[in-house]
Amino acid sequence: MAPSRAGAVHVAVALLAVVATVAVAAAGGGGRKMASHGEGTNPRESPGPPAPAPAGGSAGQFRGQARLPRFAAPRHYELHLRPDLVACTFSGSVAITVAVSASTRFLVLNAADLSINSSSIRFQALAPTEVVFFKDDGVLVLGFSKPLPFGEGVLKMDFTGTLNDQMRGFYRSKYQYKGKERNMAVTQFESVDARRCFPCWDEPAFKAKFKLTLEVPSELTALSNMPVANTTVAGPIKTIRYQESPLMSTYLVAIVVGLFEYVEGVTVKGTRVRVYTQVGKSRQGKFALDVGVKSLNLYKDYFGTPFPLPKMDMVAIPDFAAGAMENYGLVTYREVTLLFDDKSSSASSKQNVAITVAHELAHQWFGNLVTMEWWTHLWLNEGFATWVSHLAVDSFFPQWNIWTQFLDSTTTALRLDSLEESHPIEVEIHHASEVDQIFDAISYEKGASVIRMLHSYLGADRFQKALASYIKKYAYSNAKTEDLWAVFEKETGEPVKDLMTSWTKQKGYPVINAKLKGNDMELEQAQFLLDGSSGPGMWIVPITSGCGAYDTQKKFLLKLKRDKLVIASQCGDRKKGGNFWTKLNVNGTGFYRVKYDDELGAALQNALETKKLSLMDKIGIIDDSHALSMARQQTLTSLLRLLYCYRGEADYSVLSHINSVTASISKISVDATPGLAGDIKQLLIKILLSPAEKLGWDPKNGESHLDVMLRPMLLLALVQLGHGKTINEGDRRFNIFIRDRNTSLLPPDTRKVAYLAVMHNVSSSNRSGYDALRKLYKESAEGEERLRVLGILSSCRDKGIVLESLNLIFTNEVRSQDAYLVVRGLQIEAREIAWNWLKENWERILKTVSVSSLVGDVIKGIATLFASNEKAAEVSKFFATRTTPGFERTLKQSLENVRISARWVEGIKSEPGLAQTVRELLGKS
Ligand code: BES
Ligand code: ZN
Repeated sequence: MAPSRAGAVHVAVALLAVVATVAVAAAGGGGRKMASHGEGTNPRESPGPPAPAPAGGSAGQFRGQARLPRFAAPRHYELHLRPDLVACTFSGSVAITVAVSASTRFLVLNAADLSINSSSIRFQALAPTEVVFFKDDGVLVLGFSKPLPFGEGVLKMDFTGTLNDQMRGFYRSKYQYKGKERNMAVTQFESVDARRCFPCWDEPAFKAKFKLTLEVPSELTALSNMPVANTTVAGPIKTIRYQESPLMSTYLVAIVVGLFEYVEGVTVKGTRVRVYTQVGKSRQGKFALDVGVKSLNLYKDYFGTPFPLPKMDMVAIPDFAAGAMENYGLVTYREVTLLFDDKSSSASSKQNVAITVAHELAHQWFGNLVTMEWWTHLWLNEGFATWVSHLAVDSFFPQWNIWTQFLDSTTTALRLDSLEESHPIEVEIHHASEVDQIFDAISYEKGASVIRMLHSYLGADRFQKALASYIKKYAYSNAKTEDLWAVFEKETGEPVKDLMTSWTKQKGYPVINAKLKGNDMELEQAQFLLDGSSGPGMWIVPITSGCGAYDTQKKFLLKLKRDKLVIASQCGDRKKGGNFWTKLNVNGTGFYRVKYDDELGAALQNALETKKLSLMDKIGIIDDSHALSMARQQTLTSLLRLLYCYRGEADYSVLSHINSVTASISKISVDATPGLAGDIKQLLIKILLSPAEKLGWDPKNGESHLDVMLRPMLLLALVQLGHGKTINEGDRRFNIFIRDRNTSLLPPDTRKVAYLAVMHNVSSSNRSGYDALRKLYKESAEGEERLRVLGILSSCRDKGIVLESLNLIFTNEVRSQDAYLVVRGLQIEAREIAWNWLKENWERILKTVSVSSLVGDVIKGIATLFASNEKAAEVSKFFATRTTPGFERTLKQSLENVRISARWVEGIKSEPGLAQTVRELLGKS
C-alpha cells in the first residue's frame, strides 16, 4: 500500500446508512478507467486459489490498496440484467457464490457508476452493518457484525445503472434502422470496467463461472458468451437464460443487444461460428467468417487443445473504443475491422480484417483459457496474440508475405523502445487507471517481436511443443511470465528464463557495434537511445550472422558486453572489389540494431546494390540506419546515400519502410534545412517514382495482393511529397468519380490518393473540392469510405479549412471513436493552427473524445509535428495541470520525440556536404 494514501482522508467518504440506496458514482478525471488496485501489496500465487489473509479492523484498511484482499473469492455468478434501450438505463441483480477462506467480517469487491440498493444486500441471511464505497478505487466494502463462516456462501444485491456513452462498461451504441436511429446495448469490460455493469471481483485472477439471464425487448437479438439455454416470451419482453460458462475472468464477460442478421459456418470439430452485422450487411461478414473458422481449426492443432466453448459469435459494433475485443465466445469488433466488401473495401482492409480476427480468436486460448495473473503480464495476452495471428494469416494467405510485413511491428516497437519514456514489457501496475496505457507498442509489437526471437532461437517444433504444454498446464487458470519460461525451459532444456528475462524485465534494447579486427569481427553491445545517449542495459543477445550467403549462417548468444566472431573465408573476398559481406541479425529476428564500421557498412551496401540480401534484411538495414541518423550516430548524408541504393526496389514491405524513412526525412528537413527541403523532396520523389510509374494508377488483371497495396502507398507518398503530376492525375480522377461513383478510374484502393490530391489544392477561397469530400463523407454508408475521407480532411495549409475540419469532432457527424483520425491528416505546415486549436478547445476535446487512449492519440498527433525544445517546453507547461494517468505516458513520449527531433535538426544544420550530396544524387540517373 502507498503510505501516503493510507488513512489520509480516513473513511470520510463512507459509513452510509444501510437502508438507503448507495450511489456508486463515477470517479472524476478524464481517465478511461476508474481507480482500483495495483501490484505490490498482495502478490498472489498462481495458479490456484489465492492465499488468504485475515482481516479484522475497520473498513478503512481496504482503501487505496493495490489489489483486492484474498480472504474471500468468487466461485460463481448468477447475473440478471434488464437493459432499457429507450431510457438508456439498466437494472440488475447478482448472486455471487463466495468462498471465505480466512477469518474476516468483510467482503471487499469492485463496483463503479452503479446505484446499489443497500437494503437488498445479503450474505446468506446476514445483512451488512456497514456499506462503504471508496470511489477513487472502485471498491465496495461490506462490513458484517461478526466474522463470516468459512466456506461457501451466497452474496446477493440489486442495482441500477446507466447505459453510458463512453464505450466502456455497459454502454449504448447508435445505429440506423429503416431510416430511424436505434440504440444497441453493448459491453466492453477490459481492462477494469466489468465493475460498471455489476458488482464483482474485477481482477483477472478471480476466475469464476457465470450464468447470465437477460430481459430484453422480444424483437431484439441478445448475445452473450454462452449459447442460450432457454427463452420465455412474455409479450413485449423476453427472458433469455444462457448456459453456464466455464471458469473465466470478469473482463471477458460480454453482452450485446440489438437488431442483427448473421452468416454462419462450422469448424471441423462442429463448433458453430457466426458473424453478426447490422441488418442488410451480413454478406460483408463472409470473409471474417471464413478466416474465423480457419483460425479456430488451426489454433486447436497449434495449441494442442480444443476450442473450449460450444459456439463462437463475432459482432460488428458501430461505436467501439478499441479495434476489437476477445470476449469469450462473443468477440466484438469495430465495423471496419470485421466487415469486408468486395466492392468498397481495399486490399489493406482485407488484410486488417484477417489479422484482427486471427488475433482475437487466438486470445480464446491465449488470454481466455490461460489468463495473465495480473496486468503486469498483459503482454502475454497481447504479444502472443499478435505473433500467432501472423502465423495463422501466413498459413491462410502465404502470398501476402505476412512475416516480412511483420517487420512493421518490430520497427514500430524498436522506435518506441528507444525512448527514455519507454517501459519494460513486464510493467508494474500500481493502480487500475494505469492499465489502459500499457496496451501499446511495447506490449503488442515488442512482445510479439521477442516471441519471434525466441521462436527463431528454439526452432518451430520445439517452440510449438512447449507452448502447447503451457496451455494444457494452465488451462482455466492464470499464469505469470515466469511460468511460461519455466515450461519452455523444462521442455527444451535451454536457458529460456535468463535469455527472455533480459528482454521482458528491462526496457530498451541494444545496438551491436560491429568492427572488423583482422580476421575477427568484434561485437559490443550498448543500449540504444534516440537522444544520442547510451543507457546502462545489458542483454543476452541471440546473434545471427549471414556471411557471403544465407546458407552459411552462424548463431550464438552474446552474454557479455563484448565478444568476437571469426570471419570465415566463405564470407567472400575482402580485397577491394571482392564479394565480401556479412550481415548480423539475419532477417531481423532479433530485437536489436546493428551499427557496422565503415568497411562492413560499405560491403553491405554493395551486397544491397548487387541484390544479395533478403527482403527482411533490406528492411533492417534501412531502419537501423534511419535510427542511427536520428540519434546522430550517423549523418543524414550517409542515410540518403543508402536510401538511394533502394531506387530500383519493387517489394511492398521494403518500400513501405522506405516510405516511412522518406516521410521522416521530408518532415525533418522543413526545420533543419528549409533552403534544401525542396531538393530533398525531389530526391525522395526520384527514389519512389519509378516503382510508382511501373504500377500506374490502374489495377492490372491478376496482379498480386501486395502490388495492390503497394500502388496506393507509393501514390500517397508522391502526393505528400508534392509531386505535381500525381496530384493532377488524382484531381482528374476525382472529378470523374464525383460524377460517376462507379467509374473504374477510382477503385477503393486508390481512392484515398485522389482525396489527398484534392486536399492539396483546397483553400478557403477555392473550396469546391473540400465541399465535395464533405458531401461524400455525409452520403457514404458507415465504414471504410467515411474513415478514408475523415483521415484527409485536415490535410491542408489553409487555416479556415483546417479549423473547420478539426471542429468536426464536436459535431454529430463524427463518432467519438473516430475523432483521432481527423488529427492524423494534419500537415506540418498547419501545426501552429492545430496546437492553438487544442489549447483553446482542450476541455471540449477531453469531453468529446473521452477515451483516454484516444485523447492521447490526439495529443501525439499534434505535438509530434514540432521539432524544437521551446515547443516541447510550451506543450509540457500546458499539460502540467491537465494530465491524467490515462494519457500521461503518451504525452511524455511525445515530448521526448519532439526533443529528439530538435536535436536531430541541430545535427543536420551542422552537417557539411549535405547539400552537395543531395545535388549529386539528384543529378545521377
Ligand atoms: N484485448 C484487446 C482489446 C483492448 C484493447 C481492450 C485496449 C482494452 C484496451 C484486443 O485483443 C486487441 O488487441 N485488439 C486490437 C486489435 C488487434 C488486431 C491488434 C485493437 O483493438 O487494436
Ligand atoms: Zn489482443
